[in-house]
Amino acid sequence: MKKTNLDNNTVIEVNRQCYDVLGADYTEGVPDFEIIEKNGIWQKFLDSLPKGGKHMLNVACGTGDTSVWLDKKGYDVVSTDLSPEMVKVAASKMSNSRNLVLGATELDQLENERFDGIFAIHLIQHLNKSLIEQFFKQVHDLLYDGGKFLLVFTNNCFPESGYQLEGSKEDLYIVWYKHNLEDIVPLLNKTGLKPIEFWTQKVLPDACGVDCPFAFICQKS
Ligand SMILES: C[S@@+](CC[C@H](N)C(=O)[O-])C[C@H]1O[C@@H](n2cnc3c(N)ncnc32)[C@H](O)[C@@H]1O
Repeated sequence: MKKTNLDNNTVIEVNRQCYDVLGADYTEGVPDFEIIEKNGIWQKFLDSLPKGGKHMLNVACGTGDTSVWLDKKGYDVVSTDLSPEMVKVAASKMSNSRNLVLGATELDQLENERFDGIFAIHLIQHLNKSLIEQFFKQVHDLLYDGGKFLLVFTNNCFPESGYQLEGSKEDLYIVWYKHNLEDIVPLLNKTGLKPIEFWTQKVLPDACGVDCPFAFICQKS
């Protein structure tokens, strides 16, 4: 089955259901966080934060390994995800932190808060361009001046964009988008998120196990 013209609400709901089913199983395999840590991307992001900045927002936290890392190092991290199951798993690892069921286009609910750093690791391959633009605008509004946004994504999990079977799990369909840099860079610039560091992607055909994803550090402008 392959559907490509899905409206925004359908994209969100299909992905919520899919990740709810995956839940704790998502931690199987190499966590995405280890990959960006190994590549030096993570440390560069932390070093780029405003001096002393420790207030962080993890968007699409999944099972929360990145938030746990920050929590242990004394950062004050708010973790959000569309999937209640993912948030439940993340919260079980960090009982004293804030873990919220909140989609990437609902971040305006945090309107009174500002962050030194916001990051989204392997989220935007699940959003169409309209949703990405809404998400980027909200990130911009939630950053302090001088705050940084780390964006990590890949586009080689499936050969095309669409609604398709996830891995080997039967009846588990998910929406993936194959975004290129030409799609994403203009949206970053348009929403006032200026790229200041960039890592390119090594393409492994049809493989989600990328060892070098696309990554940007952006500054609020
Ligand atoms: C590939 S996983 C990445 C998880 C985590 N960032 C990591 O690096 O391990 C994608 C995550 O995005 C979440 N997600 C999908 N669509 C979302 C949306 N519209 N808003 C927020 N989270 C979303 C899923 O629930 C899932 O936890």
